Amino acid sequence: MTTETMQTAAVVGSGYMGGGIAQVLALAGLRVGLADQDYETAQRNYERLVSQAVILEQDGMFAAGSAEKIRHNLWVPESLEQAVADVDYVTEAVPEVLEIKLTMLARIAASCRADTVIGTNTSAIPIETLSQVVTNPERFLGVHWMNPAPFIPGVEIIPATRTSEQTVIAAEKLMLRLGKIATRVSDSPGFVANRLQFALYREAVDMLESGVATAEQIDAVVSSTFGFRLALFGPIAIADMAGLDVYAGAYTTLEKAYGEKFRAPALMTEAVEAGHLGVKSGSGLRGINPADVPALVAYRERAYAALAELRRKLGPAPGL
Ligand SMILES: NC(=O)c1ccc[n+]([C@@H]2O[C@H](COP(=O)([O-])OP(=O)(O)OC[C@H]3O[C@@H](n4cnc5c(N)ncnc54)[C@H](O)[C@@H]3O)[C@@H](O)[C@H]2O)c1
Repeated sequence: MTTETMQTAAVVGSGYMGGGIAQVLALAGLRVGLADQDYETAQRNYERLVSQAVILEQDGMFAAGSAEKIRHNLWVPESLEQAVADVDYVTEAVPEVLEIKLTMLARIAASCRADTVIGTNTSAIPIETLSQVVTNPERFLGVHWMNPAPFIPGVEIIPATRTSEQTVIAAEKLMLRLGKIATRVSDSPGFVANRLQFALYREAVDMLESGVATAEQIDAVVSSTFGFRLALFGPIAIADMAGLDVYAGAYTTLEKAYGEKFRAPALMTEAVEAGHLGVKSGSGLRGINPADVPALVAYRERAYAALAELRRKLGPAPGL
């Protein structure tokens, strides 16, 4: 099965995430069956996805003709079994409850072709755990989208131990065809995105609970300072640009105050001890080539200026 031949798909769990994923698949020309707890729920979600697409098209966020494409390419089969029966790709987006996921994945695997690629959109459950109920597990993997699916560029691709390389490549090619940035990551709970996202959230709520800052203050600081940078660079590159010696100094203070959880990471400490401080010394954890630094810094300033301008144009988020 090559991605070029993928023409049909099913989305099981047509809620918030499944609905957005279905829209993206439909916009790329795939015929997509929507399945949910029952026919009526799937039908309601179909209507919602079409009317949402009409508004997004009117507002210029979907190209002209998108709503019609979505109306035409989505359909509501009588049952889950009918939805997955003869499709090239199935994505599961039912609630993040292990028992529900296991039940639904077993049903999907039993009802689709042996060569149908099956992706789960789980946020944090190891793919290995879910793969236990999937027959022909070589065609099963994690394909983790972020919300809202039509607009967030990245998708995590997570193979389990028995996932075939052919399946991973097929999923990566499909994401590329959908215009997404697919990054292959290993199968650990929360993968990359949610392990980081949830670590940040836990610390933010700790600060809120202990009265360090209000919710408004936390959100304002994050979105206008280091969170602003994260729209363009990852934390490893940002640390290399800041200087790992600077990070080491800050960790000394943080560990004294908050203990073990803020101990400086060993890999970073070793880099500092070896004099590898990031772009200022010519090497850090991203291994940026010193010859690329002037162009990187110029790009960074241009990108931050453009992002700051976009924020000014958009103005504050309503209600926040
Ligand atoms: N909400 C997010 O931001 C987000 C982001 C990435 C991943 N996810 C993951 O995506 C999955 C779905 O989350 P969501 O936010 O779309 O939830 P949701 O509640 O909006 O949608 C879940 C859908 O599954 C349906 N459903 C429930 N039980 C079912 C069953 N037994 N069979 C078929 N359908 C069933 C519900 O009716 C609903 O339409 C979860 O695994 C979640 O962790 C969510």
